[in-house]
This record gives sequence, C-alpha cells and structure tokens, in this order.
Amino acid sequence: MITIALSKGRIFEETLPLLKAAGIEVLEDPDTSRKLILTTNQSDVRVLVVRATDVPTYVQYGGADMGITGKDTLLEHGSQGLYQPLDLQIAKCRISVAVRSDFDYQSAVKKGSRLTVATKYVAIARDFFASKGVHVDLIKLYGSMELAPLVGMADAIVDLVSTGNTLKANHLVEVEHIMDISSRLVVNQAALKLKQAPMRHIIDAFESAISK
Ligand code: PRP
Repeated sequence: MITIALSKGRIFEETLPLLKAAGIEVLEDPDTSRKLILTTNQSDVRVLVVRATDVPTYVQYGGADMGITGKDTLLEHGSQGLYQPLDLQIAKCRISVAVRSDFDYQSAVKKGSRLTVATKYVAIARDFFASKGVHVDLIKLYGSMELAPLVGMADAIVDLVSTGNTLKANHLVEVEHIMDISSRLVVNQAALKLKQAPMRHIIDAFESAISK
C-alpha cells in the first residue's frame, strides 16, 4: 500500500493531473465526502486528507509514504527526515510583507523603528527581518492575517499572496517580496527503501508530467 498525504483546496486540485499521469485517480471528492482516507482506482494506493501544515508531520512519522506541501509549510516545519525529490511547480504564489496603504514602511525601516508583525510564518518572518537588520516583535496568528494591521494590532503582516485580491480588498499593499513559493513532493526515506519500485513509479511519473 502506498499512502499519499494531501491537503484540501488548491494543492489537492492541482495534484490530480499529476496523479493521473501516474495512473492514479482519486475516487472520492474531499469537498463532499467527510472521509479522511480516500480510495483510488489503484487498490494499493490511497490518499489521506490532512491539514496543510500537518503534511510534513504525517510523512516524517511514516503515517504517509509521501505527501505534497508548500515550500512555506516546509520552511516553517523544518524538513528533517524528509526527502524532497521534486519541485512540482504547482500552487505557485509568493510570500510577502504587506502594510496598510497609509503606513510608510520604508521610512519606518530607515529610522530603525521596531515593527510589530503578525504572521502564521514566524520562522520565515524572523529570518527575513533578521537578514535585513530590522527589529520586529512577531505575533503568531493562524489565519486572516490581513485583519491585524486594520485593527491596529500590527504594523505589517507576512503572508502568502497569489492574485493580490485579498490585500487589495483590505486596503493593504505589498512592500517586500520575501520569496516565491510552490509545492514540493516530500517522501519518507524509510518507506522509499521498502517500497522502492511503486514509489519510484509515482515520482518518475510526476517528474515527466511537470517537465511537459
Ligand atoms: C491565502 C493567504 C491570503 C490569500 C492570498 O489564504 O493567506 O489570505 O490566500 O490570495 P490572493 O492574493 O489570491 O488573494 P488561504 O485562502 O489559502 O487561507 P488561509 O488564510 O487559511 O491560509
């Protein structure tokens, strides 16, 4: 049995064509089913539906043999024990610093002000501001980061930006592009040794699908 951990939403949708290239079709829709283990057309392949931030944990501890997760999640989680053979080039976005459109970020940084930054990406934010020599107080949030500057709780946020629509709708502007993000295949190294042939087949099929 090969177990693949995926999160619902964009990663799931964009993974379906890659699975198809490996001959795997998921038989249930995670948006309508409450099941957390989804069957596929291959009796020896199943899909686990997990929270995006939990994908590396499932793969690291062998709950899943492989998984697909964003570079953002991997950087926050750390990638100990995870083999990362492929950048799948899916669910592309960027991680940026954004502020209220009336906040003068550049002069605050120039003056050496201490900034309060709200984010789900504490490790990425800490490394980024440390590399710029900007002093920050970080506030950990789990979602809807855009609210924090609007209610005066933070000067800035560090968050994923895709179309930019969420920032725009909340009168925030992007002031720093920290890095580009895409999803990676992560593999449990012990599982790969034990199930070499079927796992290699999936990895190779993904690789040829993304290079097309
Ligand atoms: C992400 C991110 C932004 C939004 C950006 O949230 O946190 O809120 O998408 O996308 P846009 O630039 O296209 O508007 P997501 O919907 O993934 O939910 P989350 O808050 O649970 O991360």
